[in-house]
Amino acid sequence: MFLPRHTLLISFLCAVTAGAADFKKDIQPILEKNCYECHSEKNKKRKGGFVFDVLETFKLDIADNDVAQIRPGKPAESHFLEVIVNANHERHMPPDDQLSASDIKKITEWISEGASFDKDAPKLAVATTAPKKDLPPIMSWTNLEGKTIKAGFVRLEGENVVLRMPANAAEVPYPLAKLSAESQKLARDCAAP
Ligand code: HEC
Repeated sequence: MFLPRHTLLISFLCAVTAGAADFKKDIQPILEKNCYECHSEKNKKRKGGFVFDVLETFKLDIADNDVAQIRPGKPAESHFLEVIVNANHERHMPPDDQLSASDIKKITEWISEGASFDKDAPKLAVATTAPKKDLPPIMSWTNLEGKTIKAGFVRLEGENVVLRMPANAAEVPYPLAKLSAESQKLARDCAAP
């Protein structure tokens, strides 16, 4: 049977794109081999407070805000990638080793493509909830590390509360799960039913 050349080329390109960066197939084995020793529930090691084998926990470090380790679609702003790539970083990871160039390339691609754990998952529409009226412009929020954040409530957005920073009025999404129980309740109370 005769297939025109460009048909072959197109199906080849599709195959490459579809398989670009699959967390379970490409990324998890790299983390398992190089990071779980110090960052996994399996080994009961949570160095620096980071766990990469329980995805529910790892997910809390992935968000588009200044405190997240991984910013989906923004590898250059992802601290997680910075400490792996930059051998001179004071907290270079893994501490006494260096990931191969091909491992770093895979992780970079995975972050560029949105750092999803399931590449086939449909992108869900994020449910947002507007604020109640008459909220104080600045409230106190405490996170799990006991740090206090002074900020205004903007809205609930999926698993995040969007806060307004008083210094520059920037809107910053913050994972609800990283707030104290009291502050999570405050966030839910601030949202109109
Ligand atoms: C031998 C143990 C060990 C291994 C292996 C290891 N880490 Fe770490 N990691 C640590 C320690 C200890 C800290 C806390 C460092 C600190 O706070 O000074 C840390 C902190 C981090 C941080 C936070 C850095 C910061 O600037 O606060 C990230 C991100 C991280 N590790 C990612 C990784 C990744 C990704 C891997 C695998 C590629 C890895 N680590 C492998 C021990 C390890």
